[in-house]
Amino acid sequence: MSRVDGLRLASAHVDVDAFAREVQYYLSLTPRQLPSRYLYDALGSSLFEAICHLPWYPITRAERHLIETYRHDILDFAKQPRAIIELGSGNGEKLALLLQDAQASRTAHLIDVSATALAAATSRLSDIPAVTIVTHQDQYEEGLNSVARLRPRGESALALFLGSNIGNFDQPDAEAFLGSVRTSLRSGDTFLIGADLVKPEPMLLAAYDDPLGVTAAFDRNLLVRLNHELGANFDLAGFVHRAVWNAEQSRVEMHLESRCRQAVAIPRAQLNVTFEAGERIWTESSYKYEPVAFEAMLQRAGFAPGRRWIDPRSRFLLSLCRVN
Ligand code: TRP
Repeated sequence: MSRVDGLRLASAHVDVDAFAREVQYYLSLTPRQLPSRYLYDALGSSLFEAICHLPWYPITRAERHLIETYRHDILDFAKQPRAIIELGSGNGEKLALLLQDAQASRTAHLIDVSATALAAATSRLSDIPAVTIVTHQDQYEEGLNSVARLRPRGESALALFLGSNIGNFDQPDAEAFLGSVRTSLRSGDTFLIGADLVKPEPMLLAAYDDPLGVTAAFDRNLLVRLNHELGANFDLAGFVHRAVWNAEQSRVEMHLESRCRQAVAIPRAQLNVTFEAGERIWTESSYKYEPVAFEAMLQRAGFAPGRRWIDPRSRFLLSLCRVN
């Protein structure tokens, strides 16, 4: 649920401790890593919004186009649901497109880790009459559990998981996560999920390492957070953003690569790290799917794929499923 200010302050303190613990753990792994959900603080969320406008990042445009074109089919297939649940709602733009001319009164549950994103989505959706907004500043699974508790008996729901966010889960975590989404929904509910498809390598690399350097700034902002929130002394100029296509694993990997041998202290995480020249911190993966394999995974997780739309130019898939 959305929190009042006093509680948010209290939880911000707990969040820093959790952040410190996770940084200590993940940066000590081989290869070194950082959890990608920390990309989305206020600045990170703004940079991500900028990424969505980049000519080299087609996912957002393709998905927006499909939703705008097929919104009536989506809502009809979902039997005009009373509840809409969006995982990772971002700025709420796609939900606003879906509901733009819908008349029925609905509850929209927005689940996102970013307070900035939730505030933006709430203000955007408040223009649409008959929509009651409930925000959940939480990770996906915790948010889904609160929604499950709040839903009245007999309420139909459409859950959305867009932006190819499923691509940011490793294998086999993606399938396990879909299974847990399935568990928190009810039989007869509907699930709309967007997935980016395999395409030529130059297109993939430009999408994750754009010539304007916005994606690099988004990635390196993680180090800014470590400096500001955990007292670290990363030299930002000492790390370069790298996007690599790993064909065997069918994923784009994002890394921050150290330009030279350098020592970094992260006092609040009680960690000192020496990076070798060329050593990388793995910050994110974005898996790319083939439609048939993707739908087979949905099926194994307990969904029955019903409709499928593909944007042919950017090779992006929107799959609409029934919950078994
Ligand atoms: N879900 C987005 C994607 O995989 C997230 C994303 C886009 C991202 N660009 C990024 C994550 C750059 C890290 C770095 O496309």
